[in-house]
Amino acid sequence: MQKAKILVTGGAGYIGSHASLVLLEAGYEVVVLDNLTNASQEALQRVEQIAGSSVTFIQGDIRDRACLDLLFSDHDIHAVIHFAGLKAVSESVTQPLSYYDTNVCGSLTLCRAMQAAGVCRLVFSSSATVYGPDAPVPYHESMPRGRTANPYGTSKSMVEQALEDLSQSDERWSVVLLRYFNPIGAHPSGLMGEDPQGVPNNLMPYIAQVAVGRREELTVFGNDYATADGTCVRDYLHVMDLSEGHAKALGRLSTPGLHIYNLGAGKGVSVLQMVEAFARISERPVPYHFAPRRDGDLAAFWADSQKAEQELGWQARRGLDEMIADTWRWQCRNPQGYSTDIHTKSQRTSKC
Ligand code: NAD
Ligand code: UD1
Repeated sequence: MQKAKILVTGGAGYIGSHASLVLLEAGYEVVVLDNLTNASQEALQRVEQIAGSSVTFIQGDIRDRACLDLLFSDHDIHAVIHFAGLKAVSESVTQPLSYYDTNVCGSLTLCRAMQAAGVCRLVFSSSATVYGPDAPVPYHESMPRGRTANPYGTSKSMVEQALEDLSQSDERWSVVLLRYFNPIGAHPSGLMGEDPQGVPNNLMPYIAQVAVGRREELTVFGNDYATADGTCVRDYLHVMDLSEGHAKALGRLSTPGLHIYNLGAGKGVSVLQMVEAFARISERPVPYHFAPRRDGDLAAFWADSQKAEQELGWQARRGLDEMIADTWRWQCRNPQGYSTDIHTKSQRTSKC
């Protein structure tokens, strides 16, 4: 039987590369479209190394309609998982037009090209940020989208709305919105992981770089929140669990309409709990100091992920210690991320 082909936009990035691996291992063919603005092609070579099978890589941009049309005419795509986008919250505040252009215009261009090609099955990477600051915890999919605090969050909310309207306007469409909580961790082989460019914005890669000696000290933003230890609480989930959620979501695309799922572990962990756990598992000190709150941070939120459990048969299976151990293995084996590796271009690479 012919394998179903999945287009993974942003498949060279952190979550997309792990998801591509899970898809290959589940028996799908994978075509990755990525412009490599925040990724290295080396990630895909690691995917191929682990999976023992290959990925078709196309270096191109989701905003390039001609590139997308060519891709859909060259490949018989069964469904699209759309990860490609810009994700740095603080950068979105200083460069809003870039964020709306890539995240919103790029998603619309992709949908138009899909519609023209008759490919109407889409899984979209959304974020817990769409619930907004006023939603009670735990967040549940029945809650409305709230007001957003920055252009990044607004761009996710806008695309969600556009996809909701699209799925209502045309019954051929089936769309799954996956609202991620805080993905961390790495593939257990130590070959793949998160490789942020420059100073990491997010907690986990920052702690990992402090523990490995690449940065001196963690800055903990705020210790006066109304939480048990005064620091912010988040719902961290393993990137492999998250990736498996995408494979399960593909099954949901056989039912037309809009389907929304939270993907989180359903447990809150504070910044100080994370620091303590990381130091214990890595057996390295993680020095830190307190600083004022970061703009836009919420005190605490976590997911109610029962809907994903009931309808997708998905649950986060890996605990915090495993998330940290896998991050640490990746960090130790690749202290400079993918950048120190020799980049050999795959023969299956093409450019739009
Ligand atoms: P990432 O930056 O590692 O991956 C995004 C990928 O998209 C990169 O490989 C980048 O090169 C590519 N890309 C960017 N602009 C593109 C364009 N115009 N055309 C083609 N490719 C382009 O980020 P990630 O952490 O893997 O996130 C994947 C998706 O999940 C993003 O949409 C992000 O907003 C969303 N998300 C991430 C998190 C998180 O904590 N990492 C949380 C919620 C939602
Ligand atoms: C952030 C974004 C969110 C986005 C997600 C993934 C904000 C306000 N939110 O989530 O919209 O979907 O990243 O890109 O930016 N922390 C420190 N020191 C650090 C880094 C973080 O104390 O150096 C704290 C933060 O204050 C927060 C917690 O650690 O309380 C988690 O931060 P982070 O990993 O950036 O995730 P979010 O803020 O939840």
